[in-house]
Order: sequence, then C-alpha cells, then structure tokens
Amino acid sequence: MASITAHDFIVNINNLQESQVLEKIYSDELSPNQVLLAIDKFSFTSNNITYGVVGQQMNYWKFFPTQSGYGIIPTWGLANVVASKHPDVKVGQRYYGYYPMSTHLLVEPRNVSSAGFVDDAEHRRALPPIYNYYTNTEHDPSFTPSTEDLISIFRPLFITSFLIDDHLAEKGYFGASQLILTSASSKTAQALASQLAHRKKKSALDLEIVGLTSEQNVEFVNALGCYDRAISYNAMRELNTDEKYVVIDFTGNHNTQYQLQTALGDKLAYNCLVGLVDWQNLQGEQPLPKKGEFFFAPTYAEKRQKEWGVKGFQQKVGMAWQQFMNTIQSSITIKEHTGPQALAELYSDMLNGKIDPKHGNVVSLNK
Ligand SMILES: NC(=O)c1ccc[n+]([C@@H]2O[C@H](COP(=O)([O-])OP(=O)(O)OC[C@H]3O[C@@H](n4cnc5c(N)ncnc54)[C@H](OP(=O)(O)O)[C@@H]3O)[C@@H](O)[C@H]2O)c1
Repeated sequence: MASITAHDFIVNINNLQESQVLEKIYSDELSPNQVLLAIDKFSFTSNNITYGVVGQQMNYWKFFPTQSGYGIIPTWGLANVVASKHPDVKVGQRYYGYYPMSTHLLVEPRNVSSAGFVDDAEHRRALPPIYNYYTNTEHDPSFTPSTEDLISIFRPLFITSFLIDDHLAEKGYFGASQLILTSASSKTAQALASQLAHRKKKSALDLEIVGLTSEQNVEFVNALGCYDRAISYNAMRELNTDEKYVVIDFTGNHNTQYQLQTALGDKLAYNCLVGLVDWQNLQGEQPLPKKGEFFFAPTYAEKRQKEWGVKGFQQKVGMAWQQFMNTIQSSITIKEHTGPQALAELYSDMLNGKIDPKHGNVVSLNK
C-alpha cells in the first residue's frame, strides 16, 4: 500500500471549544484482515455535540481513540474501501456506518456478508453493537446518490424517535392528552412529531402534539405540519394545566425543565429525557422538583429486538422510515461543508447553538 496521509479532527475532552486537526500517516502494509476506509462524507447535528458532552460517561471517546486528553467525536456517514487485507472486503466497496471526524478509518471486519460487517477492533468489542456494524450500500437498495445524505442525517436519529413513539403508545401516553416536545425544531424531535402525528391520525387518538422552541424557530416548527402547534419558551406560562402532560425533552436546559415541572406540577405524567442540545445550560440554581427518566435508544432497541425478533424489528422500522422519508424531503436543504476549515466553523457554530434547523449539514474532509 502506498503511504496515505490522513487527518483527524480532534477536540479537547475537557474543553470542547478547543479543536485541532491532527495528521496521521498510514505507511505500513495492513495486517491480515485489516481494511482501510476513506471517509467520503458524514452528517453533523447537535447529536454529535452531545456525543462529545457525554463522551466520558457514555464511552463515546472509546470508539476512535486519539492522543491523550483529546477525543474524536463519532459521526454517521459513508466511506469507500481504499485498501484491504480481508478476503471478503474489496477495494471500491462503499459502507454506511459510524465514523470518526476524519479522512480515514482502519477497521478489522468480522462476520462479513454481502450485507456488511462488524468492526472487531479490540477497543470496540465492549461497546454497543449497534455502533459497530457497517452496511454495504451496494446490497441495500435504499442507498441512492440522492438519499445518502438524508440517510446519514436522519437514520441514526429516526430510530430513537421510532422507539419513543412505540414506548409512549405502549404505555397509553401515561394517560396524557398533551405531548410537549422541547427543542421541537431539532431533527430528532421532528422525526418523533412525525411518528406521533401518523399514529394519532391512524388510530384517531385524542392527543395534542405541542412543539416548544426558540422564538425564531416557531414559524419553522409550525410549517412542518406534524405539530398541532408550536409555542416559544417564553410562552410556556400559557399551557392549560387542566390537562395531563407528557414532556419529551431534547433541550436539557435546566430552566426550561424547572419551568415546565413547576407549571405542570402533578399534571406532568411522564418526563422523558432524551437530549442535551443546550449543553451549556444543564445546571441551574433552583433544584428540580422531579427527576425525569432518561431514554437511551440502544437499550430500548435491544429490548424490542428480543420481543419482535431482529427481522420483525427491521421490518417495522423500515416501513416507518419510508413514510418519514417521503414527508421530510421538502423541509430540509442539504448544506455541504468541505475541508477542515469549513468543518471547524460548522463545529463551532453547532457547539454554540448557531443553527438553522432548515439545514442538513454534511461534511467531507477528503475532497
Ligand atoms: N437518548 C438518545 O438515545 C438520543 C438519540 C438521538 C438523539 N438524541 C439527542 O437529541 C438531541 C437532538 O439532536 P439533533 O441532532 O436532532 O439536533 P439538531 O437537529 O441539531 O437540533 C437543532 C436544534 O436544537 C436546539 N439547539 C441546538 N443547539 C443548541 C444550543 N447550543 N443551545 C440552545 N438550543 C440549541 C435548537 O432548537 P430549538 O430552537 O427548537 O430549541 C436547534 O434548532 C441531541 O441532544 C441528541 O443527542 C438522543
């Protein structure tokens, strides 16, 4: 193999505001069974920032280790095989999966089939299997040049939304008639609102789906069509406290939680904690009256896979995904970011909440 110069975008794990690009040379022959992938593109949303925020507690820094004190934030995207010492993985094949913010990734495929493989690199073996699987796009007809970006952006988020919708339906919405989604303009919240709206229509459920969002995003959230209405954080006091509520929290903002909990009191039947987009405001002066329940998608997915079987699970998710793809395409504009400087700017904007929810951001470090 000719020597290859690769780049990693690394961040200080104790100060996410500090980032740098690290050069790495792949000059040696690969070891038996190793495969080198050139990362063509990856999506970037607040979910990736959250991987960094909880990197230590939730082991996200362990997927793609780098120099001491720094980490590489994981992303979802597509890569092409550029060198292979594995008999069943060929140069030129294209794989969708979990990638570092880098130009390249070295993997050690196991369980290779026409559908894909598992990265069996030692440092990944104890990590949740859902993150270690790479899909061969040639054998998955849902990957086309026009869907790849949407898949990279939404597929990892959609699965969480599918599972929360399933969980709420199974629990009879905890007896609530009002469902409030905070950071309603986020992509995961959009996907959840779409699932909830679909089920509401199909089963004629007496539910109101309310999007709580920043003042500047109210119009965007209303226009999505999956929320019954959008209100700004400043209008929380207007909520009708005669009804029972479920809150699904994507913001993590302490004061928003405090205000919701104190306004709704006993009418808050279930408080589902999903996201931490507002990571700089997770703490506040007033102690929260109630704890919520953290929702971790991989754990709930494993439970449903056992109950429905892996095939049954995939079929249900696949059907819901198709229906979601048909609705979301008109409300998103793909924005491409090429090279380390463009990535550094996007990363800084995303970290500091400068986000236009209309955009779906896709990054390429290799072009
Ligand atoms: N638990 C799980 O298993 C799981 C799975 C998937 C996703 N999640 C979490 O769900 C959250 C949403 O992720 P996403 O990728 O869908 O987000 P996204 O689309 O990038 O969200 C963008 C929106 O989030 C809000 N926001 C973003 N950054 C902010 C900041 N710094 N300060 C204040 N508001 C900010 C704004 O919404 P508003 O103006 O509407 O507030 C913004 O329009 C993430 O925390 C992610 O990790 C959790």
